[in-house]
Amino acid sequence: MGEKIIVNPKTRWYKDAVVYQIYPRSFCDSNGDGIGDLRGIISKLDYIKSLGVNAVWLSPIYKSPNDDNGYDISDYRDIMDEFGTMADFDEMIKGMHDRGIKLIMDLVVNHTSDEHKWFLESKKSKDNPYRDYYIWREGKGKKPPNNWMSNFVGPAWEYDETTGEYYLHLFSKKQPDLNWENPKVRQEVADICNFWFEKGVDGFRCDVITYISKVPGLPDGNFLKDAPLMGQHNYVMGPRYHEYMHELNERAFSRYDTMTVGEAAGITFKDAYKSIDESVGELDSVFTFEHVNADMYIQVFPHKLSLPKWKKILSNWQSLPLTSQPTLFLENHDQPRSWPRFVMYEKNNKELACKMLLVAMQMMRGTGYIYQGQEIGMTNIELKQEEYIDIMATRIFDTLKKTAPFLMPIARSAMAKRARDHARTPMQWDSSELCGFTTGKPWMKINPNHVDVNVEKQENDVDSILNFYRKFLHFRKGKDVIISGSYVPYYEKNRSLFVYNRVLGNKAYFTICNFKNKPISFKVPKDLNIKSSKVAITNYKEPVSDVLMSRKIAPFEAVVYELELK
Ligand code: NOJ
Repeated sequence: MGEKIIVNPKTRWYKDAVVYQIYPRSFCDSNGDGIGDLRGIISKLDYIKSLGVNAVWLSPIYKSPNDDNGYDISDYRDIMDEFGTMADFDEMIKGMHDRGIKLIMDLVVNHTSDEHKWFLESKKSKDNPYRDYYIWREGKGKKPPNNWMSNFVGPAWEYDETTGEYYLHLFSKKQPDLNWENPKVRQEVADICNFWFEKGVDGFRCDVITYISKVPGLPDGNFLKDAPLMGQHNYVMGPRYHEYMHELNERAFSRYDTMTVGEAAGITFKDAYKSIDESVGELDSVFTFEHVNADMYIQVFPHKLSLPKWKKILSNWQSLPLTSQPTLFLENHDQPRSWPRFVMYEKNNKELACKMLLVAMQMMRGTGYIYQGQEIGMTNIELKQEEYIDIMATRIFDTLKKTAPFLMPIARSAMAKRARDHARTPMQWDSSELCGFTTGKPWMKINPNHVDVNVEKQENDVDSILNFYRKFLHFRKGKDVIISGSYVPYYEKNRSLFVYNRVLGNKAYFTICNFKNKPISFKVPKDLNIKSSKVAITNYKEPVSDVLMSRKIAPFEAVVYELELK
């Protein structure tokens, strides 16, 4: 490793940022092939800017055979054919930077595509120089080397006839896991990061990054410990995870003014600082999934959300030291849509509910994330079994059909709520037949509700969800109290209200959100030393009350009071 060159000291701009996630395949198609692309994104940059976000996170745009929509990369230094060219990329990033928007790319390096040249070489023979880029093992008789299961159903090993060995794939068999124990692999990853930093990229969202270090010897999993995913304790936050991340930070992340966020199943709020604290030099933040798994048994079967349990999870993350940055999100490309999920499936008063959820999440401390379409209240789609196209749902259906057909009705009802397809329907730009997304045959079914739920309609309505998002994000920007004020939760056991105060010196923002579609009683907490109060922002057209007082909180009301304290 050469001498460390600091090109740009860290400004930690992400502390105050809200990031807009784009799933490029479904965002905007510029050439009528039915697939979103980079020129489509370029055409919407003014729209993105108008939202008031500071950065964009792009799901993968690299060359890929698309077994998992780009999360299977065959060339890390080139653009996927359907999405455009490197010249399009250069124009897109310039367009973003000209508008003051940073660009976060997806870094998918737990695995590559099986069509990546490293894997094609690795397969050829046991002594190929690339063999050790992947995890190859002999089987146990006719069985795979261990009992680990893939995240996409079925064994995590695939037998390859050429050399008579198995390779590990924690996702699909077209996504072989890289062998991070090999120093060459780690240097390749750092070089890829630096290649994109040199092109002006401002950071990375690191895909399943907590899976990169496997327990040596790859021991069998234990169902009781691992459920629902056999083997996971042997690779989630494995023994060399911190060492690898530290090294990557040294070689790449710390050399530019970057922001990194790791997709980090397995990191708990108690040990998060070991991975994300500014003093550590690994990642800047992580996505954890406790709060979006809180309405599921063993991460699979949906059940009703308990608000106290949910608030507790979020409050735990707020208790991190100021030097450890939380993330605030409800949606992404793997999650079902947030409405009406997080308001216990109450379908009346949608506009108020969507606006309330935004305030509830983003008055907390952390980097905010909004997933495309969330800003207009896009919803899950109704699909027939044969209309699901994501690898996760199709693998579940295919496997159960063969092995346990009696479970199919349960799988169908779980997928209706849970499938990743729900977040991947085309972005609803207008009410026309193809919703302004494409002029061709869309790669995925358009949600029929685009006739009502679309950007064009909401642009023309001052009270729309979209315009509230703009108003709120504008309000949130640059507020010291929100960036670094303390977080004090109230009424933690209350099943309807989410109430918390953010305090810095003698200034505070007191947030009250009603998760129910009916009035709920609220009493001003006794310990607040209020000198004066006024409404800072509310989702109601007119504030229900101009000052903070004990009263009924209106259905789905979200209100933030600015307090001056004694
Ligand atoms: C997490 C990504 O968010 C998901 O979409 C993908 O399928 C897996 N990682 C595998 O890369």
